[in-house]
Amino acid sequence: MRVLRSAVTGVGGYLPQNVMTNDDLAKMVDTSDEWIVERTGIRQRHVIAKDQKTSDLAAEAARIALERAGKTAADVDLIIVATTTPDMPFPATASIVQRKLGIAPGPAFDVQAVCSGFVYALSVADGFVARGMAKCALIIGAEAMTQLLDYTDRGTCILFGDGAGAVVLEPVEGQGDNSDTGILGFDLQCDGTKTELLYVDGGTFGEGNRIGKVRMQGNQVFKHAVHKISQAIESAVEKADLTIGDIDWFIPHQANQRILNGVAERLGLEEHKVVSTVAFHANTSAASIPLAWFTAVEDGRIKPGDVVLIEALGGGLTWGAAAIRL
Ligand code: UT7
Repeated sequence: MRVLRSAVTGVGGYLPQNVMTNDDLAKMVDTSDEWIVERTGIRQRHVIAKDQKTSDLAAEAARIALERAGKTAADVDLIIVATTTPDMPFPATASIVQRKLGIAPGPAFDVQAVCSGFVYALSVADGFVARGMAKCALIIGAEAMTQLLDYTDRGTCILFGDGAGAVVLEPVEGQGDNSDTGILGFDLQCDGTKTELLYVDGGTFGEGNRIGKVRMQGNQVFKHAVHKISQAIESAVEKADLTIGDIDWFIPHQANQRILNGVAERLGLEEHKVVSTVAFHANTSAASIPLAWFTAVEDGRIKPGDVVLIEALGGGLTWGAAAIRL
């Protein structure tokens, strides 16, 4: 049976220039490079400039993704931005990206599922593309998480960084089986009874500044992470009619190296198949998966035909996974 699938045809990424190291943080809070590296794997993070906004990072990543896909702004007919840190409460960051890139009118909106935002956004876009409703969709994860940090709280301020990643999705015909190119299966979840484990404690904006700050019961989130992520992966892989052995590249949300290792070990994923950028990017929330993806495409690891598995867990709690053949 011939079916339409959503194929990833270009990947882009952008990191703001400013870098903050663990030693820089140790001058602000009671922490150390040794503790942060041992407990999280993070060595540095990029920090958005004062004159930059989330939409600027998003637009840069999107430009590269379009270029890699051999497309121009004129081709784009759907924009979805996954972000927890929109430029403003409204309009959606996707609207601002549309204007910045000179894209013609068409659907553009944001998805808010915190660190799982990119997995959610990709799945939503699959609904458009695989039904023939979009021919060139831009899916962007973009975050300015450092603007939500309380730099007196060492349990959270060491974890996050800023950046953006983007993919282009285009329709491609398939046979309806697991040899098809494109998104083959996904699983999305939310448990709203656990909102208090990870949230922002106030309004997002005020006089150009963000008011609320990230609050997290880190060890509680950690406890849920490996178990819930593994379940979502198993479900996504099953829906794709694949097995864990079929996965060429595991591109997890870059929250903590210990979580990445825990999931890989539990599922029997070999270490060399795990794409990890957590040391250099830290946790960029919805941007972390496409940024890691971009890194591994650009350095030549990920190639056409490979099967990629993405997963994330974040505030909500939300979590999810998707299996994609390139
Ligand atoms: O992307 C969204 C999802 N988020 C996550 O997945 C994050 C999940 N959680 C984590 O990554 C980890 O829980 C953290 C890295 C946040 C913390 O690591 P942990 O091993 O769970 O440490 P903990 O919170 O249980 O704290 C252990 C100790 C405490 O001291 P005491 O009470 O044992 O004396 C903390 O006060 O480590 C202390 N501590 C620190 N020490 C130095 C906490 N943060 C720091 C720090 N530097 N930055």
